[in-house]
Amino acid sequence: MADTRPVDLLAGRPALVVGGGRMGLAIAQILAAAGIAVMVVEPNCATRETAAERLAQIFRLQGQPQARIALVKVVADIREAPGDVAIAIEAAPESAELKREIFRRLDEFCPADAIFATNTSVIPVHRIAADVRDKSRVVGTHFWNPPYAVRLVEVVRSEGTSEETMQRTIAIMAAVGQQPVRVNKDIPGFIGNRLQHALKREAIALVQAGVCDAQTVDTVVKSSFGARLGIMGPLEQSDLVGLNLTLAIHEVILPDLDTSRAPQKLLVDLVAAGHTGVTAGQGFRSWTPETRTELQTRLDRTLGGKKGTRS
Ligand SMILES: NC(=O)c1ccc[n+]([C@@H]2O[C@H](COP(=O)([O-])OP(=O)(O)OC[C@H]3O[C@@H](n4cnc5c(N)ncnc54)[C@H](O)[C@@H]3O)[C@@H](O)[C@H]2O)c1
Repeated sequence: MADTRPVDLLAGRPALVVGGGRMGLAIAQILAAAGIAVMVVEPNCATRETAAERLAQIFRLQGQPQARIALVKVVADIREAPGDVAIAIEAAPESAELKREIFRRLDEFCPADAIFATNTSVIPVHRIAADVRDKSRVVGTHFWNPPYAVRLVEVVRSEGTSEETMQRTIAIMAAVGQQPVRVNKDIPGFIGNRLQHALKREAIALVQAGVCDAQTVDTVVKSSFGARLGIMGPLEQSDLVGLNLTLAIHEVILPDLDTSRAPQKLLVDLVAAGHTGVTAGQGFRSWTPETRTELQTRLDRTLGGKKGTRS
């Protein structure tokens, strides 16, 4: 299957993306760049109106043929979806109830052999798919932001997901240029977000306890172990230095790490005060329009590199 063209893996049939926001549109771009026709369902009129320009921007950033934009059609309602959809990827807001309703409607409008995938960040897939009759076709496809630059996709096996659905989904993701990995258990946050938020929990605890300020946390991460994380994962690194060292460190440090089982006071208080981050000008750190642009530019410059897709 490795050399099959993406469009052939879908037997020439279109894909459906539900939600045309940040992630949905970028996922649609990846599929279209690989030659797949995509219909995007986006209920918000203003968001639909900016879709063409947002798509063009990603195609420009990736140096991919603008003509492929024509493969993406943005509509307001699932009922406008073509009758022969091969895969539907849901990228609506992170609400279990909303996603469950979308899956119920997919079950109503999509052909019996279509794959139903969700891009949820942390919600267990089986909660979203509770009303889908044939659970063998349900799978998680957790893309990262921005998906055209951060290529990993966690392909999550949920309750009832068939091995055929896993294999077809993995093949499609690989064929459109992403890097799929298997997640064998449908647990909150899958792999990446569990690791990421375990780190954030300790980061917030350090600031809350007055050990250092938020800027220092970010500096320590970026300039120490963060600098090598893209080259060497944490378990590879443990093997490299020797597991006896990791064991000795864990004996001292694990009893002292934060174990909060609910969002910490610092985070709750910041959100309650409207300090929600760069758009508000204040989050853990203070932001001006200039520092916000500088952060985004730094990210785009580092991650925005082109990648090839086969079509
Ligand atoms: N932003 C990220 O960094 C990121 C990364 C990975 C996964 N995710 C996940 O992807 C999903 C989408 O996130 P996002 O950042 O693109 O959010 P977003 O708010 O940018 O986009 C969501 C879009 O869904 C639309 N929508 C609302 N109700 C809908 C409905 N009933 N049917 C169809 N569309 C509807 C909204 O109008 C909006 O345009 C979430 O589950 C999120 O957790 C986000």
